[in-house]
Amino acid sequence: MALRTVPVSNETISYENMDGSADPSGEPPEGLRPAQRVLSAAEAVERMSARRHGKRGCYAMFSSYLGGVVTDPAVMTVPLDDHMVHRGHGVFDTCSLVNGRLYRLGIHIDRLLASAEGARLAVPWTHDELIQMVADTAAASGARDGIVRYWLTAGPGGFSFMPAECEESCFYCVVLDPMSFGSGGFDPMVDGFRESTVRNTPMKPPLLAQIKSNNYLLNVLTHLEATDDGGTFGIIVNDDGCIAEACVLNVCSISTDGVFVTPPFEGILHGTTMRRLLDLARGPLCDEGLLREVQQRPLRADEARVGTELIMSGGDTHVFPVVEWDGVPIGDGTVGPVAKRLHELITSETEAGDGSPDDFIEVQYRN
Ligand SMILES: Cc1ncc(COP(=O)(O)O)c(C=O)c1O
Repeated sequence: MALRTVPVSNETISYENMDGSADPSGEPPEGLRPAQRVLSAAEAVERMSARRHGKRGCYAMFSSYLGGVVTDPAVMTVPLDDHMVHRGHGVFDTCSLVNGRLYRLGIHIDRLLASAEGARLAVPWTHDELIQMVADTAAASGARDGIVRYWLTAGPGGFSFMPAECEESCFYCVVLDPMSFGSGGFDPMVDGFRESTVRNTPMKPPLLAQIKSNNYLLNVLTHLEATDDGGTFGIIVNDDGCIAEACVLNVCSISTDGVFVTPPFEGILHGTTMRRLLDLARGPLCDEGLLREVQQRPLRADEARVGTELIMSGGDTHVFPVVEWDGVPIGDGTVGPVAKRLHELITSETEAGDGSPDDFIEVQYRN
């Protein structure tokens, strides 16, 4: 049997300096190709620090495996043999940190635990212990505003698919710089989104759609297909011609006679934001006469196309109006009054900390 040989020429390899810029000499430092260099732990950390230097994004990371919080991005790592990394055996959730308060962390942790159960992950922490670890990480970050994301994983232990080899379940939590869709002059509440139907990317099977797992490949492909067609999140329409959801958002429609319709949470993610929008729609929006009725039932794409508004929601505070779908305006093609009012209510509630005390956890900063 012939053995495959690996070319030894350096011709096609470009070398980088520590800051990531190309080495002008084109010569391999120390005369070695990158994969020939064996770095010490100190060199690896030094190189990681240089590459991460000046990058914003993550204020702090807690790792149950490390048993502490780190704030240096060079050491914000997850072991490669954690089965979440190489098998996708992990679940996650995200909540918002607004004005030093964690918004609706309790229902996000409920969903995390439901996802963990669906993924058959062993969870050695109680609901309250998980809340405490998230709140402590937020406090250690010092950030008063951010996105807080956390993972429950099968944990490190090997590279097979079998969770039995994992040493211990892990919990990781990061506090992130809040991402903004308002950058670059684009404001969703003024401009709205142009969306497209996603036809070629398959829907997740219901089990995976309802577990917020680390298997987001189909969500990413949904987004990429939408982008190819001029959209961003992509609207998924099922074989029955009904709207399911968007790649990382739930969807609702407002009919010409003032009925708010969103699909049942079956075969799609049990969205926390949409649950809050349902409360606000049934309460203040009906009271104020902006809506006549609220229904959660299958939503046909053809009825949504002729509605007055189409709205996507997610990430606690994102209310994203769709002003055009597959090149055709929704309503009059501008951001409608229901989207504006829902956005106003949800933003003022998170910023002021108004509402049920269970929905707001004050972070106990150390100074
Ligand atoms: C597939 C999918 N649908 C809907 C949502 C919206 O959920 P939530 O409102 O809880 O952010 C998300 C959020 O990540 C999602 O990934």
